[in-house]
Order: sequence, then structure tokens, then C-alpha cells
Amino acid sequence: MSCLRVQSLAYNSGLDILFLARIALKGSMKIRMSSPDLSDADRQAVLDVINTPNLSMGPKIAAFERAFCEFTGAKHAIGVNSGTVGLHLCVRAAGVEAGDILLTTPFSFVSSTNVILFEKAVPVFVDVDPFTGNIDTELLAQAVEDLSLGVEIARKWLPRRFPPVNRHDLGAVKALLPVDVFGQPADYDLINAVASQYNLLVIEDSCEALGGEYKGRVAGTLGDYGVFAFYPNKQITTGEGGMIVTDDDEAADFMRALRNHGLHPDAAGVRLCKAIIQGGLEAEEVGDEARITLSQTAHHLQIGFRNFKHGVRPDVIIGIGVLGMFL
Ligand SMILES: Cc1ncc(COP(=O)(O)O)c(C=O)c1O
Repeated sequence: MSCLRVQSLAYNSGLDILFLARIALKGSMKIRMSSPDLSDADRQAVLDVINTPNLSMGPKIAAFERAFCEFTGAKHAIGVNSGTVGLHLCVRAAGVEAGDILLTTPFSFVSSTNVILFEKAVPVFVDVDPFTGNIDTELLAQAVEDLSLGVEIARKWLPRRFPPVNRHDLGAVKALLPVDVFGQPADYDLINAVASQYNLLVIEDSCEALGGEYKGRVAGTLGDYGVFAFYPNKQITTGEGGMIVTDDDEAADFMRALRNHGLHPDAAGVRLCKAIIQGGLEAEEVGDEARITLSQTAHHLQIGFRNFKHGVRPDVIIGIGVLGMFL
């Protein structure tokens, strides 16, 4: 790894350059992606939960969501059963319809594109900055401008097998879906400037970026909606799990309903029983089964925030992961 690359990585992710240089100089050292670190207390926390009747949507979920609001400063946090589902609910909340266009990055885990395809929308890939691995914001601005000018000019950005190439109309450009690759947030000043110029929503895939920062702001809060993931290779784990954060009241309500079969959050208890007896849930939207289980959450609360309190900075863990790949 060149010094320049180490320097750029350190500058962009706020890592300690001496720390990075020491690792780089070791040359052959293998640095593995994080693996789960479970203690007896974590195992006990899971047992405590499964000894209660509240195995899903219980008090631990609310505590987990509150902890996320506190950590990120976001107004709402919505626990879901994977990062992918979290991203999918954001795409739904953005009002994406079949044929709509979302701009995203090709350098990601496959689910940031799959969630676009789930809605039969069109992912337009914008290449990445070779230094950061994140979406190139100049290209992004160019792509959005071209896409706003009609199908002929837009054609070079469209997937080769894009169905409407014979047509003269393009779907609406609805949203940007940048990914904070390996914990390093993309350049949100520019992304948000493009979004506000063209009235687009920004869905921040911060599945790899819990604890990352951009100009003093926390990853996950840099767009309209942000999503974290808790698969075992992430900074903290619930086994499977994810968390959406947003300041948008209406979108939060909508996503809370969607995670639970479309059932509105206040349609609980008696109302829910009544609705089921009457042969239908009070669902205005077709929702997912996206709830996170209580035992997953207990595990997360125990492990995740313990590590944070002990000062293990996720960006350091991720920085190590990135270096491991390059060395
Ligand atoms: C960038 C990115 N997006 C989305 C996801 C999906 O998260 P999950 O595996 O929890 O569905 C991941 C997880 O690996 C990821 O790295």
C-alpha cells in the first residue's frame, strides 16, 4: 500500500495516520474482517429475553431504538430484521414505483441494488472515486443532469438491458442511494446539493458505517434516511438485524407500519385482535415481515454498546478491514 493511499485513507476517515502507517509497514500482516465477540454476559442477556413471553416487538426493541436515537441524534430509529429490509423500506418510503430511476454505486454489497430491483425500479450505476471507493460525486451530478434531459442523452447511463430504451420517456429520477463503503461516508455535501437541485431523496446505505463520521456528523444521518446492518461481520451484531434512522415523522410512521405487515403502529392490542377477527389487518400498504426479534436485540444491546463504551471505534475496525484488503 502506498503512503499516499494510507494518507488519503487516514484523511478521509479520520483515522490516526501513524496507526495506519504502522500497519502498512508490516506488509504481510493479515487483518481479518471483524468476527463476533461474545461474552457470557451477552449469552445471559439472550437467555433473559427468551425466558420472557416477549420474543418480538417487546420492550428491548424500544430500548434498542432509543439507544440508536441517542447515538446518532436522529429523531426516529426503526429496528428491522436486516440491513437489506431496512433499505427496502426506505425505497418504499421514497415512493419509488416501477420504472423509476435511482442512482447508486456499483461498489457495494448486492442488496443496495436489489432493493431497487425489488420495486421494479431501474438502478443507474455511477462509478466510484478510486481513492475512497465511494460514489464519484462529479459523475453523479453529470448523470442526474443527463437523466433529466431525456432518453437520448441519458442512454449512456442506463443499463444495457434497460427495458424502455425504445421508448422516448424515462421513469422519474426518484432518489440517490450512496453507500458508505467500509465505514467511510461518501461526500454528502455534494450528494445533498445534487439532491436538492433535482428534488431527490437521499437513502444513505450506512450498513457498514456505524460510528463513521463526515464533517462532524454521524454516518446514517447524512441523507433523508439512513440504514445500519448488524450481520455478524458488522461493528456490532444481532445475528441478523438492521436499523433505519430518519428525522422524517411521516416516513418513520410509514416504515414502522411496513415492517409489521403494513399494520399501523398504533393498531395494537384489542384493535389488532379485532382486525384479525374481522378477517383483515388494518393495513393500507402491503408490508413486510421485517420485525427484529427480542433476543437479537438483547444480544446487540449487550455487545454493541459495550464495545462502543470501551472505546473501540467502528471506523478503526473498518479502517483495519480496508487495509486488510489492500495489503
Ligand atoms: C453496504 C451494505 N449494504 C447492505 C447490506 C445488507 O445488510 P444485511 O446483510 O443485514 O441484509 C450490507 C451487509 O453486508 C452491506 O455491507
